[in-house]
Amino acid sequence: MIARVLLPAGRDRLVARFDLREGGLDATRTDLLAIVPGASALVADPSVLIDGEVLDACGDQLRVVANFAVGYDNVDLDACQERGVIVTNTPDVLTEATAELALALTLAAARRMSDAERDLRAGRWLGWDPAAYRGIEIWGATVGVVGMGRIGHRYARLARGIGAEIVYAGPSSKSEAESELGARRLEFEELLSTADVVSVHAPATPETRGLIGAREVELIGPQGLLVNTSRGPLVDSEAVAAALREGKLGAAGLDVYENEPEVSPALLEAPRCVLLPHIGSATVPARDAMASAVADNVIAVLDGKQPPSRVT
Ligand code: DGY
Repeated sequence: MIARVLLPAGRDRLVARFDLREGGLDATRTDLLAIVPGASALVADPSVLIDGEVLDACGDQLRVVANFAVGYDNVDLDACQERGVIVTNTPDVLTEATAELALALTLAAARRMSDAERDLRAGRWLGWDPAAYRGIEIWGATVGVVGMGRIGHRYARLARGIGAEIVYAGPSSKSEAESELGARRLEFEELLSTADVVSVHAPATPETRGLIGAREVELIGPQGLLVNTSRGPLVDSEAVAAALREGKLGAAGLDVYENEPEVSPALLEAPRCVLLPHIGSATVPARDAMASAVADNVIAVLDGKQPPSRVT
């Protein structure tokens, strides 16, 4: 039994093989606990918390939690391991889509597109104004990548393609990014105070929670731009909203939030801020490929084989 909605590419293959039980994207925790008993596979997306309670509600025949995402911070890996449940994810296939979205957010925030469009739609556009909506250019800017993994690297490549200098911070040096893009590795705080744009591409772990708070936002500064397409808990929304309001941060482009789908009211009101509803991987090719990867993982585990993208 499967308890989650799938997009067509994966859904067809799972429908053909298994008794599919759907949760639906608006399923509450209570709905979820009610439909999972008897499931041998769970397909979860980043908004669904899979913890010991859900695993126990499934029963002993549960074999795999197939996450419909590359990030798996919504899954309690220890609880899965204790119960002998395999966890899989969907790496690689969403790298381009997410990197492109990060670049789109960078450009949109740099050029104050949300403020400008909001004014236009509200009838507040009074004509061409040499002083209005002045933003920053990415050409010649220093772009700081926090987490030079797959997505961070692609984003850096796109930013380099439009003329940015690349710096990065992370636990290890990345020789490919250094030789291909001339990227320079900096200490985290040095990156924050050096880069014009700081784009976060690190996974959500206990160590990265709250990585960007009030102090870090102020280091990015009144001319700086913060982009987050990784996971909400890495960035303190209230600190970002306050810094935007007080002119201590230049601009922000955010796709992810601490308590999705809730978004801080202060952030909704903040100026120079582009806000998207967690759509990093939302392209037709990426979502279809993610659905296929989920199906491949589920089918492999239930057939007693090694899944293509096993987390644990
Ligand atoms: C992921 O795969 O982690 C993405 O955030 C899903 O959109």
